[in-house]
Amino acid sequence: MIADKLENPQARRLGMAFRSNRQIATRPLFPLLESPQNPPPETNLKHVLVVNYSQTGQLSDIAAQVVGPLREAGHRVHQETLVPATPYPFPWPVVDFVDAMPECVQCDAPPLQPLTVAADAEFDLIILCYQVWYLSPALPMTAFLHSDAGKSLIRNKPVVTLVACRNMWLSAQETMRQLIAEAGGKLCDHIAFTDRGHPLATFITTPRWVLTGKRDRFLGLPPAGVAPDEIRGARRFGRALANALDSNAERSGQPMLRGLRAVTVNPRLAISERAGRRAFGVWSRLIRAFGQRGSWQRRPALLVFSLYLIVMVLTVVPTSLLLQWLLSPLLKSRLEGLRAQLEQPSGSEEFNLKKYDQSR
Ligand SMILES: Cc1cc2nc3c(=O)[nH]c(=O)nc-3n(C[C@H](O)[C@H](O)[C@H](O)COP(=O)(O)O)c2cc1C
Repeated sequence: MIADKLENPQARRLGMAFRSNRQIATRPLFPLLESPQNPPPETNLKHVLVVNYSQTGQLSDIAAQVVGPLREAGHRVHQETLVPATPYPFPWPVVDFVDAMPECVQCDAPPLQPLTVAADAEFDLIILCYQVWYLSPALPMTAFLHSDAGKSLIRNKPVVTLVACRNMWLSAQETMRQLIAEAGGKLCDHIAFTDRGHPLATFITTPRWVLTGKRDRFLGLPPAGVAPDEIRGARRFGRALANALDSNAERSGQPMLRGLRAVTVNPRLAISERAGRRAFGVWSRLIRAFGQRGSWQRRPALLVFSLYLIVMVLTVVPTSLLLQWLLSPLLKSRLEGLRAQLEQPSGSEEFNLKKYDQSR
């Protein structure tokens, strides 16, 4: 049966493209050759690569919601889960957590295990799913975008980025935009999922989650992470992308996800984030001057950085949020301009929600 299907040029193209290096040789063929529920005409069958890495499964759950409608529409999806050569711990021991900052900020990512997809495989659309570590893309995604295989896969291809994090993704997305451009990819859309908890609450609940693995309600604060209804709502992006692929819209280079509230930017957080990014830049260079990640020589500098971080979170962040709130009538038009600029390319408008969000 598989041999029959390999007579099909589309299937042959993929069967040749997916060489498994970690799993048994037949494994990648299975999801690619599964029967679609509503097969589009063979000529319009598209190949989508979804790149993902997730420690708690949150990002994988969101990616799965997006992939569902694509597969149901008959498009072929290959999900590539990044595997760091040396795994990152979860929950994170405190020292490892702080020690990860300099390399995240300097985009100095340790290598990944070889991908399961061949570097010369051809895709019509690439979806890069990542989380934020220290206002930067998480190291596995940085490693992918720096790797020869990653660059080759996204060269000249339309790319959609999808982030799920606490609430600060603007700087990380700026870095993603640069890395994608350096690799020759064309960024068309960006989708952001964040924790809807108050920024001061998530300053407690997110570190508790990543340092202990516990994300439940705590001291009256809401559970950490992206809310389950938001995760379910991610299907709307899969539906819209499936429609876009059916009409070859991915070839236009234009956004395909406008009107779906793909992102919502709080410009006040953007200002805090810029300040944080500048400070992390200085600290990361300083700490790296003491030694490599994991070395004892940089422990004293890491300790000073940790104290700085705690003082910042307890004093400077609330003060700056309060000041911005007090000054917001004066800053209103400037902040609105900043919001509109930062929400590009997919935007926060909702005119297409009725069409694609069936959970409403
Ligand atoms: C080392 C580390 C640093 C993080 N830094 C940030 C950050 O700067 N901004 C943010 O919004 N979330 C941050 N987070 C939260 C992650 O973006 C993400 O939401 C969380 O780790 C769960 O992701 P996952 O289970 O899908 O891997 C950080 C998490 C880790 C482990």
